[in-house]
Amino acid sequence: MKLKSYGISLLAVAVAVSWAVARESSPPLGLPPVPVPVNNLQDNLKIQLGDKLFHDKRFSSDGTVSCATCHARAKAFTDSPLPVSEGVGKQKGTRNAPTVINAAYNHSQFWDGREPDLESQSGQPLLNPVEHGLRDYTPILNIVRTDPEYKKLFKQVFGKSGREITIEEVKKSIASFERTIISGDSPFDRYYYGGDKKAMSEAAIRGLQVFVGQGRCVSCHTITDTHALFTDNRFHNLGIGFSLVDKDLKEMASAFTDARKKGTNVDIAVLTNKNTSELGRFAITGQWRDIGAFKTPGLRNVAVTAPYMHDGSLTTLDEVVEFYNLGGRLDENEPINNFQSGGIRPLNLSDEQKNDLVEFLQALTSPEYKKQAGVSRLDPVTTTAIHANRDPVL
Ligand code: HEC
Ligand code: HEC
Repeated sequence: MKLKSYGISLLAVAVAVSWAVARESSPPLGLPPVPVPVNNLQDNLKIQLGDKLFHDKRFSSDGTVSCATCHARAKAFTDSPLPVSEGVGKQKGTRNAPTVINAAYNHSQFWDGREPDLESQSGQPLLNPVEHGLRDYTPILNIVRTDPEYKKLFKQVFGKSGREITIEEVKKSIASFERTIISGDSPFDRYYYGGDKKAMSEAAIRGLQVFVGQGRCVSCHTITDTHALFTDNRFHNLGIGFSLVDKDLKEMASAFTDARKKGTNVDIAVLTNKNTSELGRFAITGQWRDIGAFKTPGLRNVAVTAPYMHDGSLTTLDEVVEFYNLGGRLDENEPINNFQSGGIRPLNLSDEQKNDLVEFLQALTSPEYKKQAGVSRLDPVTTTAIHANRDPVL
C-alpha cells in the first residue's frame, strides 16, 4: 500500500541564476558545452586558485583532509575502492563519493540533489563532522587572508584582500576549478559521435544495443543525438539500501520531518545517520514519491570508480548488471519495496547480453582515466582486495 503524500514541499524556493555557456575551448567529443553561471565566469587565475583550495588539507579540523582526499584525480576524482567515504579521524560517512568529473553538468548536486550547484555544494563538506570537520569557516578565512600566495591570488582574481575575502570567493573559485574537470572522448564517443566504427569492440557494440533496448538503461541514463551525460537528472528508488528503513518507514520519515522543522542540519544528518541517508530525496522534499530515491548518476568512467550506488554496496559492474537483471535485487527471493521505480523490472538477459553490457560500460572510460586503478573483472587480485576493504556492517 502506498502512503499518502505529505503535500507540503520542504524544498526551498530556488533563487534563479542565469547561465552562460563556456566560450573558450569546445567540449570533448560526446559532451555539450559546459554551463557557467553569469555571476561566476571562468577565468584562468580563478581556476588555478580553485585547484589550490581543492587540494589544501589545512582546511580540516586535523589537517589531513582536503576535497581531493575523497575526490582524487588518480582515482577519477573519487576515493575508490572505499564503499563510503572517510573524513577526519578516518570517520566514515554513509555514502559513496560520486566523481567530480562532469559534475558541472548536473542539474543538482549530491545523491539526493540537496544543493543546486557547485558553488553551494562546496560549502557543505567543509563543515561536515565526518568530512573536513570544521565548526565554521573561520580557520579557512584566516588562512586565505594571510597566506602570501592566497593573498596574491585573491587580490588578482577578485580584487579583494583581508576581511573583504569571504567564503563566497572560496566557493566560487572551487566551483570554477571543478568546471574544468570535464571528460568525454571515450571509445563510445568515438564510435557513436565520431563515426569511428572500430572504436568499440564487437561485444561493446552489442552491449550498446542492450543498453538502449532490452536493458532499458537509456530511459534513465540518457544518450541524445549530440551528446551523452547518461543521466536524466531525476531521482529513482531502485531498492538499494531501502530494507534498512522499509520496516519502520512511517516512524522514521515523520521523525525526520519533525527534526527538520526544528532546524536539523540536513547535510550532517544524512551523512552521519545511516537510516536518515536511506530516506533519499524525501529528506529534501518531504514528498513520499521521493522516498528512497537517489539521483541517476552519469556513467562515464564507471569502470574505474568501483564500488557502486549511493551506499557503495555493489562491488563490480557484473554485480550491477545482475542487480538490474533481477529487477532491482541480487537474489530473486528478496521482496521488492512498494516505492521502487516502475522503470526497474526483470530484464531476462542472457549471460552473453550481460557480458556485452559490462563491455559497453567499460567503453565509457575517457583516455585520461584509462590507466587508473579501477577494478577490472579480469583482475581477480584487485577484486579480492576490494572485498576485503568493505565495511562489514554495510
Ligand atoms: C570525506 C570525503 C569527502 C570530502 C573531504 C569531500 N567530499 Fe565531495 N562528496 C563526498 C561524498 C560521500 C559525496 C556524496 C554525499 C551525498 O550525496 O550525500 C560527495 C559529493 C560531492 C559532489 C556532488 C557530485 C554529484 O554528482 O552529485 C561534489 C561536486 C563534491 N562532492 C565536491 C567536493 C568538494 C569541492 C569538496 C571540498 C570542499 C569535497 N567534495 C570534499 C565525499 C567527500
Ligand atoms: C529507473 C531509472 C534507471 C534505470 C532504468 C537504470 N538505472 Fe542505473 N541508476 C539509476 C539510479 C537512480 C542509480 C543510483 C541508485 C542508488 O544509488 O540508489 C543508478 C546507478 C547505476 C550505476 C552505478 C553508478 C555509480 O557510479 O555508482 C550503474 C553502473 C548503472 N546504474 C547502470 C545501469 C544499467 C547498465 C542499466 C540498464 C540495465 C541501468 N543502470 C538502468 C537509475 C536507473
